[in-house]
Amino acid sequence: MLVRHIVLASLLAVTQAIQSSAPEAVPGRLRTLPLGQLNFLHTTDTHGWHAGHLQEASYGADWGDYISFTQRLREKIEAEGNDLLLVDTGDRVEGNGLYDASSPTGKYTRQIFSQQNIDIICSGNHELYKANTTDREFIDLIPAYGSNYLASNLDVIHPKSGERVPLAQRFRKFKTKNHGIKVTAFGFLYDFTGNDKNSFVQKVEDTIKEQWFQDAIKDRSVDVFLVAGHVGLRQSEFSNVFKAIRAAQWDVPIVFFGGHTHIRDYVKYDDKAYGLESGRYMETIGFQSVSGLPSRKHDEKKLELRTASYSFARRYIDNNLFSFYSHTGLDESTFPTEVGQNVSAQITKAREALNLDEVFGCNPRVLWMSRVPYPHKDSIFSWLGSRVIPEKAIDDHRKDYPRIIYANTGAMRFDIFEGPFTRDTTFIVSPFTSGFRYIKNVPFDIADRLLKVINDGNNFLGLSHSLLTDRQLKSPDQINLTQDYVASSTQNQHTTDPEDPPLTPGYTTHDDAGDDGDDTIHSEISHYQIPNCIESRVNINEDQNSHESQEETVDVVFLDFIQPWMLEALRMLGAEYTSEDTIPYAGGRSFTEMIAEWVSENWQGDC
Ligand SMILES: *[C@@H]1O[C@H](CO)[C@@H](O)[C@H](O)[C@H]1NC(C)=O
Ligand SMILES: *[C@@H]1O[C@H](CO)[C@@H](O)[C@H](O)[C@H]1NC(C)=O
Ligand SMILES: *[C@@H]1O[C@H](CO)[C@@H](O)[C@H](O)[C@H]1NC(C)=O
Repeated sequence: MLVRHIVLASLLAVTQAIQSSAPEAVPGRLRTLPLGQLNFLHTTDTHGWHAGHLQEASYGADWGDYISFTQRLREKIEAEGNDLLLVDTGDRVEGNGLYDASSPTGKYTRQIFSQQNIDIICSGNHELYKANTTDREFIDLIPAYGSNYLASNLDVIHPKSGERVPLAQRFRKFKTKNHGIKVTAFGFLYDFTGNDKNSFVQKVEDTIKEQWFQDAIKDRSVDVFLVAGHVGLRQSEFSNVFKAIRAAQWDVPIVFFGGHTHIRDYVKYDDKAYGLESGRYMETIGFQSVSGLPSRKHDEKKLELRTASYSFARRYIDNNLFSFYSHTGLDESTFPTEVGQNVSAQITKAREALNLDEVFGCNPRVLWMSRVPYPHKDSIFSWLGSRVIPEKAIDDHRKDYPRIIYANTGAMRFDIFEGPFTRDTTFIVSPFTSGFRYIKNVPFDIADRLLKVINDGNNFLGLSHSLLTDRQLKSPDQINLTQDYVASSTQNQHTTDPEDPPLTPGYTTHDDAGDDGDDTIHSEISHYQIPNCIESRVNINEDQNSHESQEETVDVVFLDFIQPWMLEALRMLGAEYTSEDTIPYAGGRSFTEMIAEWVSENWQGDC
């Protein structure tokens, strides 16, 4: 059965990504795109990864390649008289050197990004953390996208006039190019409250009561509602929008495009309403299609009929050239477009200007965030806790004192791959500027119990690793080291026909439509729960026999980001300290600097 959907693409295909340091895409077994009458490509949470993943072949295509893909797929779809729309649902900024390393931040990425024609685009929370990011969004991206940029529940302070204005228009009505399908589109942000002073996020539940929204959803001439949002598909914000539209019209199809939770997901709200979420970091190009809509250009008589049975489909495309060539039926010479190649060249130039390929060291082996349990020899946190932190988080004035050093696992964002550890890697794995602080002479018996308090229960939810909480995680008691070690190190556990390319580990998505959403058939990757925080104990003398500590007091050292939680945990153990008791440690150097320094001293191999 599966075979029917699989393209056994040629093993000979040469799939060199345009960023020359990107790995060649590995041929995989692909499911075809379920093209329909109205088709969508969707990106979300790209977080500056517009150069693609230079150390992961599955996601090696860059934003220029995506532009070529869009143009080529459009040619194919329009040749059959159908329509293609593009959607992006925010968090384009922060999280990769291409964005973070420039001064000002995003100097190159906005220009690179906006060369992609996008029909519906909206803002994420990361566009709003810093007032100047929001200003750049207003000054650069709003003019680039004009009425395609939607802000249904978001206002900003106008950078020039100082007045409160909608970031962009609230909604948009338009007709598709080929079928003349009437679309009404919205662009929401979830009920975010961590924004800077120059933006205002209205709760979605309040927005949908407003007159403009009520009028828009009562319009009977609409063929399909398109609800884009930087909102997880299963969050209440979207179910409230769904209920509001259904209260106004029971029979109009609705397509949702979500984001924020960094996962691949597809949700059935009812048999005429489906939503797609397309992962994170340029790993995934989401595809959705709807058929059964009226064709107003060719089918005028059917205009007012809405009895058709609609069909919906989805696919998650791995962002690499092998997938792009296969889905368009093109190859290395016929695939690239001039705009796409130009944009790839601009990315190369920006990366050079930012010196992102400067090599600090050569990593001998991969270190995982959640693909192995903690502790584990291949865990990034075991490496940090046993080597980097004890060897680098040292304060000249306190180096002989016993200490316990705490780091939150959320300080790391990404796995570290075998091979060159570059300036780019520092931004990818730890883009934060946090350094360490400490409290002197904390009674040992209190410090000894701190980690347990921080990692226990629900007291410290805000600390848990935000990038991992959305995954299906195994808890420690579900861990079977023997089995999982085999799983994570096996490239090909499935039996394949002789001519089938071997399966590589990757996304194996389970969603409301089943298990066949991913375009590339992968072997499954396990993910494990990791603690909120890890600790490193340094210079703590133990009794030779009882192994009990002989220290009366220790320095409690921690990343400055977790200070509020540290103080709270100390209080819970009966030790009252305030922020005035905390002092910068190790000369205020950032954790990221320490990691880079450790790498350049310890990983001097040949890549
Ligand atoms: C915003 O301000 C920060 C801190 O001053 C600076 O590092 C960053 O480059 C600025 N970003 C933009 C887009 O202006
Ligand atoms: C591509 O870049 C070249 C050189 O910068 C420019 O002349 C040309 O107009 C660009 N083409 C497109 C389609 O953007
Ligand atoms: C762990 O997995 C291995 C390999 O699949 C299996 O042989 C073993 O019985 C499992 N152990 C437990 C405790 O489930």
